[in-house]
Amino acid sequence: MIERTLLMVKPDATGRGLAGEIVGRLEKGGFKLVAIRSLTLTRSEAESFYGVHRERPFFGDLVEYITSGMVVPMVLEKENAILDLREFIGATNPAEARKGSIRSDMGTDIQHNAVHSSDGPDTARREISFFFTERELVQVV
Ligand code: CMP
Repeated sequence: MIERTLLMVKPDATGRGLAGEIVGRLEKGGFKLVAIRSLTLTRSEAESFYGVHRERPFFGDLVEYITSGMVVPMVLEKENAILDLREFIGATNPAEARKGSIRSDMGTDIQHNAVHSSDGPDTARREISFFFTERELVQVV
């Protein structure tokens, strides 16, 4: 099934000028770019985006970090996009990520792990609409 999912380049990667290389890797990997933007999240936007982690001990640090610089969210489309993207970017902790994956090559530690991706269909829907309007998601082909 053709799916859409959300990938967000995080401040550690945008700060090192890696956003373009990440988009290139994704496109070469068969993910079609549907929409993309850049912004710096406010604290309340970050708390809402990562709301599912509110009770976790790392939540405060996560919000602090994700608001510390520019993020580049994008919508990607392909067959089985949600699971395939998670495999493509590698495990959350770069030290455990598959060699050659984005997180293995570009991440530093579990917090500074270069990119975020949606973990399932409901999350993908929620995260896509968090950043993009319906109009931005229309493609005429
Ligand atoms: P992400 O896929 O963006 O989803 C939540 C983020 O919390 C995760 O990537 C990590 O970057 C971050 N995080 C920080 N500490 C931890 C931790 N101990 N376990 C899981 N995620 C963590």
